[in-house]
Amino acid sequence: MRFKDHTGALSNLKHVAIIMDGNGRWAEGKGLSRTEGHIAGTQNIRRIVRQLIVNNIEYVTLYAFSTENWNRPIDEVDSLIQILSESIVNETTEMNDEGVRIRHLGRIDRLPARLQKAIEDSVGLTSRNNVINLNIAFDYGGRDEIVQAVRRMVELAIKPDDITEDTLSSELYTSGMPDPDLIIRTAGEMRISNFMIWQASYSEYYSSPVCWPDFDELELNNALLEYSSRKRKFGKVNTTAKQL
Ligand code: IPE
Ligand code: IPE
Ligand code: MG
Repeated sequence: MRFKDHTGALSNLKHVAIIMDGNGRWAEGKGLSRTEGHIAGTQNIRRIVRQLIVNNIEYVTLYAFSTENWNRPIDEVDSLIQILSESIVNETTEMNDEGVRIRHLGRIDRLPARLQKAIEDSVGLTSRNNVINLNIAFDYGGRDEIVQAVRRMVELAIKPDDITEDTLSSELYTSGMPDPDLIIRTAGEMRISNFMIWQASYSEYYSSPVCWPDFDELELNNALLEYSSRKRKFGKVNTTAKQL
């Protein structure tokens, strides 16, 4: 069911980013393995992307694996890579049919060759779609993204005076995309964990106590409802206030 946007506040909501947290806790609560939690979490992606399409959202970024997640036990890292590889292969055809444009944000060079190929195929196949832009942040870290961008600017010998916020933005993985308007984190934590630290400068935050595999259409609509009541000011004064 579509979120009822009586006030029109969602008209400026173009980009929703989600820190999909709590797969492990979800599994633990059910006496399942962490891997089963990650499988359930991955299956939830389709449901939420569909609901974002229903709500006419143009961009969604999903944080699936951080640059710090390599520090987890090797078995968990392996199973996360395996689950992503399988889901890319299994889901791409259907996502493509639904008009989803898939992109990857993050380091591709450290991923196994087979996964690199699967990502490239999926990005290539869906590149002309325009129903929704789905960014999968995998081996993504906000600090690493900025370091890579600075390296490219040095390689391009950009003069110091020509380095602006726009030039740096254009070297990020999100080049050409709007900044996230709303960042949702599931499973209750109140931290950013190295996610879109440059792009999030004026994002609205929403933390849900619900673990990611249980975060359903209703939970998403609650986040959109909360967003629609926020007043974004971007450092300015409220224009409706009486002037001095
Ligand atoms: C999110 O779930 C998935 C990844 C970070 C890859 P977690 O695995 O972090 O789940 P919790 O935080 O341990 O519950
Ligand atoms: C953030 O979750 C990363 C992803 C959801 C992919 P983490 O579970 O890794 O974050 P911390 O360790 O609790 O900050
Ligand atoms: Mg976590």
